[in-house]
Amino acid sequence: MKALVLYGSKYGCTRECAYLLGEQLGGADVVDICREASISLDDYDTVLIGSSVYAGRISKAVAKFCATHLNILKQKQIGLFICCAQPDKAMEQLVNGFPSELVESARAKGYFGHQLDIAKLNLLERLIVRAVGKRKDELNILHDAISSFAKSFT
Ligand SMILES: Cc1cc2nc3c(=O)[nH]c(=O)nc-3n(C[C@H](O)[C@H](O)[C@H](O)COP(=O)(O)O)c2cc1C
Repeated sequence: MKALVLYGSKYGCTRECAYLLGEQLGGADVVDICREASISLDDYDTVLIGSSVYAGRISKAVAKFCATHLNILKQKQIGLFICCAQPDKAMEQLVNGFPSELVESARAKGYFGHQLDIAKLNLLERLIVRAVGKRKDELNILHDAISSFAKSFT
């Protein structure tokens, strides 16, 4: 089995989780969907796709990639994961963000936690997080969730 981990991350939390997942899978290839213009899926039988969530939505680049490559992705073993600050809405945001065909066929769907680094945010984002009562940095990466997600593919 050869696995590819694809991710879309604005401030690095999903990237970190993608690399942790890649390690748990014994060294899967890990690729940033936003930076790689053309990603060949031919070499992989397992594709794991992750995104962070902003204003209730997954990354546009991730959503576009999934829509563009839906037919080939449907032939792969799929896993989907997200990083977001609202654990109670995590699955809802995942299900709403990814194409329903991938959600239905996914072998695993995971929530890997979140990170909030206020110094990295732009002014509008700072105002948004302050409006929802967040004034301090937060770091909560769910290592156990990443491990059990990885076990679904080994
Ligand atoms: C401006 C802003 C909006 C956000 N909106 C949501 C949201 O709608 N739902 C949610 O669960 N988390 C939301 N988050 C939390 C991020 O999804 C979380 O910080 C995530 O770990 C960021 O991952 P990244 O560093 O890979 O981009 C928001 C964070 C910011 C800064």
